[in-house]
Amino acid sequence: MMEKIRLAVFASGNGSNAEAIMKYFQNHPKIEVAGLLSNNPEAYALERAKKFQVPTKVLDKNQFRECDEVLKWLNTNKITHIVLAGFLLLIPEKLINAFPDRIINIHPSLLPKFGGKGMYGMKVHEAVVTAGEKETGITIHLVNAHYDDGKILAQIKCSVLPADNAKSIAERVLQLEHEDYPKVIEQWASPAPSPLPWERGV
Ligand code: GAR
Repeated sequence: MMEKIRLAVFASGNGSNAEAIMKYFQNHPKIEVAGLLSNNPEAYALERAKKFQVPTKVLDKNQFRECDEVLKWLNTNKITHIVLAGFLLLIPEKLINAFPDRIINIHPSLLPKFGGKGMYGMKVHEAVVTAGEKETGITIHLVNAHYDDGKILAQIKCSVLPADNAKSIAERVLQLEHEDYPKVIEQWASPAPSPLPWERGV
């Protein structure tokens, strides 16, 4: 039998996306959430993981930057893919090289708009309001060594209405995140079906 894909979710805060992902993959035949890592011992995401009996690990900022402890944990837990869900720290190159094209992120705007260092959570939606945007949405992308910069896998839009403020936009966008991020993760991480004989050159 084929081994399951083992996801590690990285989360720094509330963890509503982490929860949507843990829920979606709870009884999945091919993919499981095998751990949740955080840089923040107070992150509510850790409580959510406990509810789903997902093992957790907290490492500090320096350990995430130096990466050895992170890699050790990922190897011990046989992690195959990394999912960032509201994770605040920059992913070091060493980790990107160890998991090439195997780290995915979600950002609450239509990148390249309103992305980059410091653009996180409500700040993004406030910037959308200030700029008078008529639409916003989510971007799901592969992670490279720069903030919010890797190859885009999916973008889903929603409208910004005249009566909206940052909070109402955040709610609408978060809803899209919860609905679509698990599905995009599933497609991205799913193993390709076994090749047909002629594809193998037989
Ligand atoms: C989400 O909106 C996510 O897209 C955003 O942080 C929020 C985390 O919410 N991520 C970024 O801004 C990354 N630059 P959550 O902790 O409830 O999932």
